[in-house]
Amino acid sequence: MRKQIVAGNWKMNLDAIEAKTLVSEIINSPTSAGTGTEVIFGVPSIFLTSILDLVKGHPSFHVAAQNIHQEPNGAYTGEISANMVASVGVSHVIIGHSERRQYFGEDDALLAKKICIALEYSLTPIFCLGEDLAQRESGQTFDVVRDQLANTAFGLSAEEFSKLIIAYEPVWAIGTGKTASPEQAQEVHAYLRRLIEGKYGKKVADETSILYGGSVKPSNAAELFSCEDIDGGLVGGASLKSEDFISIIQAME
Ligand code: PGA
Repeated sequence: MRKQIVAGNWKMNLDAIEAKTLVSEIINSPTSAGTGTEVIFGVPSIFLTSILDLVKGHPSFHVAAQNIHQEPNGAYTGEISANMVASVGVSHVIIGHSERRQYFGEDDALLAKKICIALEYSLTPIFCLGEDLAQRESGQTFDVVRDQLANTAFGLSAEEFSKLIIAYEPVWAIGTGKTASPEQAQEVHAYLRRLIEGKYGKKVADETSILYGGSVKPSNAAELFSCEDIDGGLVGGASLKSEDFISIIQAME
C-alpha cells in the first residue's frame, strides 16, 4: 500500500540552534519513534547537512530541500542545484509550493523542469498544487488542480511519475488557520487519484501518496488523515513546534 507521510515545511523560519533543538526533540520523543509513518523535515538549504546528521540512524526520518534550481549547474548566483542537494544526502525536495508560484513567479513550465531535474538526481519531489480562494469560490477548483497536475507531471513516464509525492494545498488554507474540511479535501484527493488512474492506471494511482496541506494542526490532523485518499500532511506552522508536530505524527496512527 501507499506510504503514510507527515512532512514539515519550515519555510524561512528558525535559526541554527532552534532548528537542531526542534529536530532532536522530535526524533528523541518516545512517542514519535517507531511509527510506520515516514516523517520528512523540509528545511532551509543552509540547515540541510546539520539536520541530515541528526536524522542519521533514524530510518523513518528524512530531509527535504524547499527548492532547487531547474538547471543542472552554471552561473546562477545564490541558487542551489539538484545535484548539490542530492550529493549531501538529501532525499526529497518540495516543488511547486504556492509561495514559490506567487512570490517567485514559478509557473507550470518551470515546475515541470524542476520535477525532471529532481528525478534525474534521484530526489523525490513533493509536488504541491491547489486552488486559491477566488478559484474555489467561482467553482474552478477541479479544473485548476487538473491543469496544475497535467501541465507539470503528466509528461512523465509511469515509472517516473510513481516516484512523486503529491500535496494538495488549497492556497486559501495555507497559514490562514482556515483548514479545508475533511470532505472538501477528500473530494479533491479522490479527484486527483482518478486523474492519475486515467493517465497511468490503477496501480500507480493506488500507490501515489497524496498529502493534504493548509493549516494542519493537532486538533484537525486525525480527522483529515482518516479520509480514504488522504495519505498524510504537509505541515507549515505546526511543524515549528515539536509538541504539535509530534501530535500530528501520532494522528497518522
Ligand atoms: P500551514 O502551511 O500549515 O502553515 O498552513 C502549509 C504549507 O505551506 O505547506
